[in-house]
Amino acid sequence: MKLGRMNHIGVATPDLDASIAFYRDVMGATDVTEPFILESQQVRVCFVNTPGEEGTVGTQVELLEPTSQDSPVGKWLENKPYGGQHHICYEVPNIHKAKEEFEAMGKRVLGEPRIGAHGTPIFFVHPKDMNGILTEIMETPKEGH
Ligand code: CO
Repeated sequence: MKLGRMNHIGVATPDLDASIAFYRDVMGATDVTEPFILESQQVRVCFVNTPGEEGTVGTQVELLEPTSQDSPVGKWLENKPYGGQHHICYEVPNIHKAKEEFEAMGKRVLGEPRIGAHGTPIFFVHPKDMNGILTEIMETPKEGH
């Protein structure tokens, strides 16, 4: 496994619009992407872009509002109704190689690589195998983000 850039921190919220207002009004965010629905994960999602070096986008906050109570994020919020940190996402150069490497180390990869909110392949690794943190592994986007 070759650790890459921390792409984003996933934050679950029961109210996406209220969370966007929080990041704008309290945290001073000036660059928040337009929310959209990611059907495959049953979430409404947007990104708070933190500034990176020299005009680039730094690590993002991914805000996740469940579109269904029965979805993974919906169930997660049952225990944390105010929301909170849901996962951390790191980039890797090759998603399939990374999956093989995690599995070779006995880590539980949750499902096959699939297209995530950035339009690039992702998978999740079980928090019990990752020091208690649900970890998203994402192939580095080819451009932008
Ligand atoms: Co994510």
